[in-house]
Amino acid sequence: MDPAATVPAPPATLRQPARPRPAAAGRPAKAAWWRDPIALSKPLVLAAGLVPMARIAWGILFDPDLLGANPAEFIEHGTGDWALQFLLLTLAVSPLRRLTGWNGLIRYRRMLGLFAFFYGVVHLGCYVAFDKYFDLGEIVHDIAKRPYITVGFAALVLMTPLAVTSTKGWIRRMGGPAWNRLHQLIYPIAVLGVLHYWWLVKRDITWPAIYGAILIALLGYRAWLRLRPRPARRARVA
Ligand code: HEM
Repeated sequence: MDPAATVPAPPATLRQPARPRPAAAGRPAKAAWWRDPIALSKPLVLAAGLVPMARIAWGILFDPDLLGANPAEFIEHGTGDWALQFLLLTLAVSPLRRLTGWNGLIRYRRMLGLFAFFYGVVHLGCYVAFDKYFDLGEIVHDIAKRPYITVGFAALVLMTPLAVTSTKGWIRRMGGPAWNRLHQLIYPIAVLGVLHYWWLVKRDITWPAIYGAILIALLGYRAWLRLRPRPARRARVA
């Protein structure tokens, strides 16, 4: 029997008024998801990010015309483009957040970064299957001898620990400063991604140049924030 059931309840005047529960130590109280526009829009962003993959899957299964005259090339190039675009979008989040003052933008960053990794892995899969027919010796030879493959491969290898440690659990385990240091790898990764594209094109460098210009703007903005002279803090009154 429940012992509490035998104790009479205190008179109403002595009862404590119900107090709102404090948030868990160190964590801000969470807004209910249905009142949180970012939480509501995340499934839409997820669906939008999957559209290129859905198009490829639909093309393979039902409508090969969707994939053009050379489906293998279409998929390989398309996934490479999306990997780079998502990488640059991920890098754009912090500057956009700063410029617009819309702090909630940061909550899309993890998903955008994971999409970059996802399309990068599918892109590698296309190369392994369509270009190299799973010939490991050929692949290793390419990585060692063809600079654009070397840098593309390096970019994807470096993206892997970022994808693995992108969860809140890993941020807690590693601690904020170490996690931030590791995730600064995104800068060399983006440089390698653009170099990879630049080195593989034979004639028209318009697109690699556009991506390169976007990357320079994003990195330049960060460098400017770090290096600009800051207004001296007012001396504290003792
Ligand atoms: C394992 C690493 C990678 C390999 C082996 C690889 C291989 C390739 C190959 C063979 C092509 C087609 C080249 C041609 O047809 O001339 C290509 C294109 C491309 N890759 Fe990669 N890649 C890798 C990683 C990446 C990564 C990490 C990114 C982005 C961050 C990326 C972005 C691109 C882009 C943008 C293109 C050009 C697509 C187009 O022509 O529209 N690749 N890659």
